[in-house]
Amino acid sequence: MRFSVFGSGAAVLDSRLAKFLPSFIREFQMSLVVDADGQPLCGTMSASAHSLTGNLIVGSLSVFTTLALVNADGFGFDGDFGNECALLLDGPGRTSSFDFNTNTIRGGPQGLGKSGQCITYDAINQAYTEARKRIHIPQPPTNGEWTGYDVAPIGELLLDISIQLTKNYGLTYEEVEKGLPRIDTSRTLIREVCPAFLANVECKPGKYRRYDGLCNNVKHPTWGSTNTPFTRMVGPLFSDGVSSPRISIRGSPLPPARVVSRTMHPDEGYHEHAATIMIIAFGQFMDHDFTLMGTPLDPVNKNEPEECCKRPPHLKNPYCMEIPIPEDDYFYRKFGVRCLDFVRAFPSVRPGCRLGSRLPFNTLTGVIDGNTVYGVKESFSRHLRSGFGGLLRMNPAFADFGLKELLPLKLNIPDEGCTRTNRSQFCFDAGEIRVNEQLILTTMHTLWAREHNRVAKALSEVNPHWNDETLYQEARRIIIAEIQHICYNEFLPILLGREVMEKFGLVLEKEGYWDGYDSEVNPSVIDAFSAAAFRFGHTLLPTSVERWSKAHKFIASKKLSNLIRRPYDLFRAGVLDEYIMGLLNQVAQAMDDSVTQEVTNNLFKKVGQNHGLDLVAFNMQRGRDFGLPGYMEFRKFCGLAEADTFDAMFGAMPNTTVNRYSSIYTSTWDIDLWSGGVSERPLPGSMTGPTFGCIIATQFSYARRGDRFWYELPNQPSSFTPDQLQEIRKARLARLVCDNTDLIDTVQLWPMVLPDHEINPRVPCRSGIVPSIDFTKWADPSGLPTGSAAFSSHTILK
Ligand code: HEM
Repeated sequence: MRFSVFGSGAAVLDSRLAKFLPSFIREFQMSLVVDADGQPLCGTMSASAHSLTGNLIVGSLSVFTTLALVNADGFGFDGDFGNECALLLDGPGRTSSFDFNTNTIRGGPQGLGKSGQCITYDAINQAYTEARKRIHIPQPPTNGEWTGYDVAPIGELLLDISIQLTKNYGLTYEEVEKGLPRIDTSRTLIREVCPAFLANVECKPGKYRRYDGLCNNVKHPTWGSTNTPFTRMVGPLFSDGVSSPRISIRGSPLPPARVVSRTMHPDEGYHEHAATIMIIAFGQFMDHDFTLMGTPLDPVNKNEPEECCKRPPHLKNPYCMEIPIPEDDYFYRKFGVRCLDFVRAFPSVRPGCRLGSRLPFNTLTGVIDGNTVYGVKESFSRHLRSGFGGLLRMNPAFADFGLKELLPLKLNIPDEGCTRTNRSQFCFDAGEIRVNEQLILTTMHTLWAREHNRVAKALSEVNPHWNDETLYQEARRIIIAEIQHICYNEFLPILLGREVMEKFGLVLEKEGYWDGYDSEVNPSVIDAFSAAAFRFGHTLLPTSVERWSKAHKFIASKKLSNLIRRPYDLFRAGVLDEYIMGLLNQVAQAMDDSVTQEVTNNLFKKVGQNHGLDLVAFNMQRGRDFGLPGYMEFRKFCGLAEADTFDAMFGAMPNTTVNRYSSIYTSTWDIDLWSGGVSERPLPGSMTGPTFGCIIATQFSYARRGDRFWYELPNQPSSFTPDQLQEIRKARLARLVCDNTDLIDTVQLWPMVLPDHEINPRVPCRSGIVPSIDFTKWADPSGLPTGSAAFSSHTILK
C-alpha cells in the first residue's frame, strides 16, 4: 500500500497548496536542485530522475530565468567596480526600508518602486565592511592546510553579508538561492579573505589521490574535497529565507525535536530478521568515510560545547540551538532536565566565495577514499605512519601473547572524542576522529589498519625494491579499492536491495573495466544524506553489545551506552576477537521507527550520571539547522506520491504512526525528514523505505560516477591492470575478518547477514571458499623504487 497519489508536478502541488501556503513557501515548492556553486544541477536532475516510481522529476527551470547575472567578462580587475551592477533584481525595485520579514517569508507587498534595481559591487563592499567589524578573520594557515576552523569565520562573514543584502533589498527566496550565488565576488573586497584553495586551483592528474580530495575532478577541483559545502537535493527552507530554522508551513512553531523523538521513536526493541550488527560497524565506518560536518567545538577537549542550556543569553555561544524539553517528559522530568545542549553547524564557504543562504560544510571528502584509515590531511597521514615498509604505526600491546597489534594510543588531545576516567587512560588513534565513538566501530578500524599492514608486507615480498612511500601508497590504493568493492558488493545490496541498486546503476561489473566516470557528476555529500538518510543506522543500534567465543557461543554483553567513547575493553587480550565474533552473531535491531533508549535518553552519559543526551532529537534538530525542508518534499523529489492530509498517509506507514504524527504536527509537509524516512515501510528486499533508498542510492551513485580514482575505471593514471582488478574483486568482509583476527577460524560468507547453513553458511577461513587476493599481480619488473612524487596528484594554487 502506498500514499494516495496526487500527481507529482510542481504546478499541481502549487495550486493545491495555494490556499494555505505563504507565497514564499510556494516559491520553494518550485525550487530546483542547485550545487554548491549555485548552478542548476541539470545533469544531477536527470541522474536523480531514476525515481523509485519511475517518474521523471523535472524542475521548473523557468522560475529562475528572470534573474540576470551581470556579465563580468571583458573587465580587467582594477579593484574598483563601484557602482557597476553585480546582480540585477527582477520585479519591483526595493529599498532598505522594504519589510524584510514580510517580503521574504510571507511573500509580502509587491510593487514598491520601479523594476530593474541593482545590487552594486559598492553595496557588497559596504556589507563586507560592516561584517568585518563583527567577525574576526584569522590569518590563513601558514602550511596551506586549511581546517574547518580556518574556513568557518569566512563562512560566517559571507553569511553575514548575504543576510544584510537579503534584508536591505528584501530579496525573495529565489533571489537568495539563485541570485546571490551568481555574483562574482572576486570583483569585491571579499577577495581579500577568499581561501586560495576555493578560488584558484589548477590540477595535474596523478596516480594517487590527494588526502583532501582536491583535484579528484580536474575540471572542478573542489568537487568532493574537504571543507566544501554539502550539496542540496532540494532547495533549503529557512524561516527568514537565509539562516533561521524552519517553522511550520502554517506559520506556527514546529514540535520541539525531543517531542518528535519521544512520540515517534520510542524504544520498542524489534529485531531485524537477517542483519547482524556487523552492518552497524561497517555502515558507520562508511559514514565516517563520507561525512563529518564542521561544528564549533569546546576548545579544551574538542567535544561539543557542553554549555548552552545553563548560560544566560548574553553568554551563550552564538551557535547554540538547544533543544527544549517539555515539563511532562516521561524520562527527563525524573531528573529535572528541561533542555539539551546543541550547537549549529558552521556555515560554509562556497567555491569562489559566493554568497547565498546558510549552507553547512563537510570536513571529509565525498568520494570513498579510506580517510577512516589515512586521514584527510597529508600531515596527519604522516603522523599515522611508522616510516618504514609502507606500514601504519600500531600498538603491539599483546606481542607477548603472540596476538596481533592494536591501533596506536591517542596521545595528542586525548579527551577528543574520548571519555576518560583518569589521565593514564587513553583511547585509540586512527584516520578518522570518531574512531572511539563506540567500541564496535573501533574494532572495524582495527581490522582495516591491520589489513593495510598485511597488504604492505605482501607487496614488499613481491617487490623488495619498493621504498616506504611506494609500499604505503600502493597498499593505500588497494585498501581503498577493497573498501569500495565490499561497500557496493556486500553492504549496499543488503541495505538497498537489488531493485534499487539496479535503478541507480550501483551494480558492480563482474569482469573487465567499468567506464562510467562522469566529470560532470559532483561527488560532494548531499545535506539530506548527512543530516538524515544515512543516519538510518541509529535505528539499528542494539541496547547491549555481545561478546561471543570462537566456537560461536555467547559469552557476555555490555550496555551500548557504556561502550560509547569508551573502547577500553579492547585492552584486554583476546577481547577484540570476542567482540568481532559478536558482530558476526548478534542480530541488529530492525530499521524502523523504534530506537534504543541507550541513545535516545543516555547518549554520552557520563560515569555516575543517570541520563544523557538524545541522538534522535539531534537528528531532527540537525535537519532544521541545515535548512532541510520536510520529509514530504523529499518524497516529491524522489517521484513518490505526496500526502497533504494525515489520512492520505495511511497505508504507507502503520496507522499508529500516522495517528502519532497528526498529534504533534499541524501539516504533513512539516514532518522532519529523518523521522518520516525511518517510519516508512521498507521496500521489498531492502532495509530502507523508498525515500531514504532514493537519497542513499543517489549519494552512492555520485560516489562512483564522480570519482576519477574509482577502482573499476580504465585509462586513468590510477587504473589497476585487468589482472589486478580481477584480484580486487575477490575482496570480502569475511576474508578481512579471517586475515586480521587472531583466533577466529570460521566465518559466514556474508558477515553482515546472520549465518544460515543453506544460504549463508559458516566456512573455515582456511578452506579457500572465501577467496584471497594474489599480490603477485603487483610484481613490478622494473626493479626500480618508484617515488610517489612523480605520481601523486599535483595541485597548484594560483
Ligand atoms: C552507537 C552508535 C552511534 C552513535 C553513538 C552515533 C552518534 C552520532 C552523533 C552524536 C552524531 C552527531 C549528531 C549531530 O550533532 O547532529 C551522529 C551523526 C551521524 N551518524 Fe551516528 N552514531 C552511531 C551510529 C551510526 C551508524 C551505525 C550510522 C550509519 C550507518 C550513523 C550515521 C551517522 C551520520 C551519517 C551522521 C552525520 C555525520 C556528519 O555529517 O557529521 N551513526 N551520530
